[in-house]
Amino acid sequence: MPPLTSPPVAHTADLVVFGGTGDLSMRKLLPALFHSDRDGRLAPETRIIALSRGGLTDADFRGKVDAEVRDQVPADDLALWQRFLGRLHHLTVDVGGQDRTGWQALSRLLAGHESRDRVFYLASPPMTFGPFCRELELAGLVTPDSRVVLEKPLGRDLPSAQLINDEVGAIFDEQQIFRIDHYLGKETVQNLLVLRFANAFLEPVWNSLWIDHVQITVAETVGTPGRRGYYDHAGALRDMVQNHLLQLLTLTAMESPARNDREAIRDEKVKVLQSLRPIVGTEVGRFTVRGQYAQAGDLPGYLAEPGSTPPTEASGRVETFTAIRAEIRNWRWAGVPFYLRTGKRMPHRRSEIVVQFKDVPHSIFPGGAPNRLVLRLQPEEGIELHIMAKEPGAGEIMLKPVPMSLSFGKTFTTRVPDAYERLLTDVLAGNPTLFMRRDEVEAAWRWIDPILDAWQASPDLPEPYPAGTAGPASAHELLGRSGRAWHEEEA
Ligand code: BG6
Repeated sequence: MPPLTSPPVAHTADLVVFGGTGDLSMRKLLPALFHSDRDGRLAPETRIIALSRGGLTDADFRGKVDAEVRDQVPADDLALWQRFLGRLHHLTVDVGGQDRTGWQALSRLLAGHESRDRVFYLASPPMTFGPFCRELELAGLVTPDSRVVLEKPLGRDLPSAQLINDEVGAIFDEQQIFRIDHYLGKETVQNLLVLRFANAFLEPVWNSLWIDHVQITVAETVGTPGRRGYYDHAGALRDMVQNHLLQLLTLTAMESPARNDREAIRDEKVKVLQSLRPIVGTEVGRFTVRGQYAQAGDLPGYLAEPGSTPPTEASGRVETFTAIRAEIRNWRWAGVPFYLRTGKRMPHRRSEIVVQFKDVPHSIFPGGAPNRLVLRLQPEEGIELHIMAKEPGAGEIMLKPVPMSLSFGKTFTTRVPDAYERLLTDVLAGNPTLFMRRDEVEAAWRWIDPILDAWQASPDLPEPYPAGTAGPASAHELLGRSGRAWHEEEA
């Protein structure tokens, strides 16, 4: 039974990163790998081989990584940093082209190391996943101990996701495929499982008898500078909801798995996705909201974000904000709305799951408010239970909601690893529990597609909201019409 925490030492591995000089690699993967190395979780012989079209030598690549990543390395660790740089290699490859030189060089580098774990990390656009896997097979590089890691987004709708899954699945077994969603590597997300399934007190109230509704918010202050090429074809629904927010929803709503093992947990998650009530046709207008940030003060609107290609007609239709009222059709959750919300250029960076309990059945004090459990993912990961307390003082009893808080930063002194660090450790250890299975990804698209279709068919554009504000007015009405409000509006 694989534990939630990974084994401390991985086998010797060759980690081949396609897109190895790109933004994700520089910002997330290489710093995460360095921290794993520093903490002794990379075997001494493990190598990191970046593939790109960049024409770099090993020395060029090490120099680039040194220049771009070293500021994330504590001064005391510079000797270890030099050792880490020594693990890095770079090869130039041509995917789907005639030039075989790069693939031959990769074959030579990997030759004689067939018994090592081989991890192919595809940090590249999804349309390259199939062709890249075919190249690997053609070059005879896929060994029984190989794994392939697929970055999101996995497709742009159900048919394209199925095609990618088929193409990759023709070469790798499902057990070898690790579909990454970095939210699953966040500490609070894993703590949600522990909170729910290692404590007895929540289970009796974790249902529609006691819970009024759930809010899942991932709000970002950043816009999309330089990202139009990607974002014009993605939008908030594909970029965030299909993966990160739905993953948070499954972990909040799933039944208790029989064991802490890869399939038992994922079996329960997929059941939640399959129980989501479809939002189709005219319901899309009632239960979903889409917005696009507009210029406000110094902040540019989406269409004027710098560093991007000029906006097209598609740009005007892209949502940078969305809010959805979802429902799960099963005994536990019947009638409990799950409100999902995410947006760029919101006033605060805040990711949280808010479980709002019902009012007490009969109130004997004036001024009460329902209990609320807040699981904060960022900033400052932690858990807060808002309970009613008496304000000190003589005279009439006055109530006040007060938080019982657990701050991970204050309670645990150990360093909290970045999500990628955790997930890479799991890939190297061959533990797929925190990765999405094919049926999960496809069930998520099955629910998302009708919303995308209705938006596409609609003549309306996303509602504008001023950059730096909490989304368009309809997002407030989505809750307001049933007398509810977003968490921070009441706080
Ligand atoms: C990525 C999205 O998956 O997640 C980005 O593509 C988004 O648009 C990012 O900014 C948010 O991740 P985090 O960990 O900063 O909340």
